[in-house]
Amino acid sequence: MKVDGVPYRTIWLADDGCAVEIIDQTRLPFDFVTVRLETVEDAAIAIKEMLVRGAPLIGATAAYGVALAMQADASDENLGDAYEKLLATRPTAVNLRWALDEMMRLLEPLSDNERSTAAYKRAAEICDEDVDICSSIGDHGLRVIQDLSAKKGPGETVNILTHCNAGWLATVDWGTALAPIYKAFDAGVPVHVWVDETRPRNQGASLTAWELGRHGVPLTVIADNAGGHLMQKGRVDMCITGTDRTTAAGDVCNKIGTYLKALAADDNNVPFYVALPSPTIDWTIEDGREIPIEERAAEEVTRIQGKTETGDVVTVEIVPEGAKGGNPAFDVTPARLVTGLITERGVCAASKEGLAELFPEKG
Ligand code: MRU
Repeated sequence: MKVDGVPYRTIWLADDGCAVEIIDQTRLPFDFVTVRLETVEDAAIAIKEMLVRGAPLIGATAAYGVALAMQADASDENLGDAYEKLLATRPTAVNLRWALDEMMRLLEPLSDNERSTAAYKRAAEICDEDVDICSSIGDHGLRVIQDLSAKKGPGETVNILTHCNAGWLATVDWGTALAPIYKAFDAGVPVHVWVDETRPRNQGASLTAWELGRHGVPLTVIADNAGGHLMQKGRVDMCITGTDRTTAAGDVCNKIGTYLKALAADDNNVPFYVALPSPTIDWTIEDGREIPIEERAAEEVTRIQGKTETGDVVTVEIVPEGAKGGNPAFDVTPARLVTGLITERGVCAASKEGLAELFPEKG
């Protein structure tokens, strides 16, 4: 995707071929700043402090984190330490474990002096694969939007609600939930996006609104609580969200608040789609209640960041002194509330059978 005419991915190798560069997402939408990661610790902090976030990008950053570790010290001990350090950064997005397992499987049998080169190569492949996967998700999701558009009639706008940020900022490029929207917009389908602000960290208001706006896609930022009302009024044609972990039976874990949107969509017969790359599927579990839900700092709820009229970016308290905050970061939407899963291999039912049809090799 382009930022002010310059093509960007969310993560790339620096010119020296060793360090890795990222976009600091904690600074958006007010400042576009890139940051160099030089050590595995830098990569772990970037994930934990959410300079990078979104399940696929967390996985890609972890893969490069292992490469940075191997470049410094390719011993078995350091490989094991890097794996544990990176795995401990965020518990919910399974792409993290997937990427680390990929790296481990490749590197463990190699000798110390082969590891660094192999690690950088595989990390770059993981990034390229993510771009291809997300582009395919976009193609399959485009057809879903085109079908809806055809039902509405020529020139009618398709109104799509999304939650959190599952756009190119959450992946290496394209995005998951937003890829079909970008492809529809580029194909001339009239689309408009209802962007849930996504409290507490406002990934919708800060990131989704920023990237859709840069691409020219019409959008309206709404309070998280507005979606149900808009659905009752017939102003939402479909919902598309991303996911941090989807079980083998199609339960979907995503940013807190997704479940409430799925309930409202079900009550109002609004199709609710979830877009995901296959590394987001946790084939080891079927029941979404087994997914670990990240609990984040209360301050993310009790404070809010914004820009003042004089242009300063500040954080302010929004609760009375002493009021406690609680911050579960994800929730689980049961498969029965999901109309379909949009994957790189096509669209399937959110069920064990649906996923097995698209991914028979997972048996
Ligand atoms: O806490 P975050 O910002 O990492 O949460 C991100 C989400 O919930 C996204 O919807 C999900 O990772 C899918 S990203 C393509």
